[in-house]
Amino acid sequence: MRNIVAGNWKSNKLMKEGAELMDAINKGLPRLQKTEVIVAPPAPFLAHYASKLDHTSQIQLSAQQCSANPSGAHTGEFTAEMLRSCGINTVIIGHSERRDRFGENFDVVREKVEQAVAANLHVLLCCGEPLEVRETHGHFELIAKQLKDALLEISIEQMQRITIAYEPVWAIGTGVTATADQAQEMHHFIRKQLTNWYSPEVAGSTRILYGGSCKPSNAAEIFGQPDVNGGLIGGAALDAESFLSLITASEAS
Ligand code: 13P
Repeated sequence: MRNIVAGNWKSNKLMKEGAELMDAINKGLPRLQKTEVIVAPPAPFLAHYASKLDHTSQIQLSAQQCSANPSGAHTGEFTAEMLRSCGINTVIIGHSERRDRFGENFDVVREKVEQAVAANLHVLLCCGEPLEVRETHGHFELIAKQLKDALLEISIEQMQRITIAYEPVWAIGTGVTATADQAQEMHHFIRKQLTNWYSPEVAGSTRILYGGSCKPSNAAEIFGQPDVNGGLIGGAALDAESFLSLITASEAS
């Protein structure tokens, strides 16, 4: 099973700056042996960047979200099918910033996952607990609920399209990282739930990424944990050198 190192640019970069970053990542990539590299730029750049990647590129593109609805009268929304039609094969769903700032609850997350899977997209499904939940030891229960809600309608076969990203909210953009032990403990827990809900095979073949202040200085230790299959990276994905060193850490893990 290959690791994934995915860069979530969030609302950063202008078109030309992003194109330069993509170019620098492309040029700096080693021949990848055990890592898939995914980049999630802002939506307005996606179709243009997709047109610049040829079949030899080792970079895949992802959107940062998609609509919970199919096409229709939903001003400002873009659908999973639209992403697919411009050559995008992956979408991040359920990021905590969407949940906290744009009111996406897990019913909406579930609808988005269904739309994305129906459009044959690969989903990076995020989950993660806020600080107060961890401090009161409710984190396992909450993560199980978030994932169960999001995956309610997803079958064993469709699980092939799902990658899970564990992103503790207290570690996102704060510089505070979960320890490697904390990451491993939660990833192992998530795998156990997948065994219960689906099968040992699904649990064993679903990639679980860590996200939350993952950076060159801590990536080797985190990626080295048995249940960690790479990372979903925010700030450190905005600079080619640091993103490439995370990819190197994944290749070495
Ligand atoms: P940071 O790496 O900036 O903490 O962001 C993580 C994240 O939210 C990735 O989706």
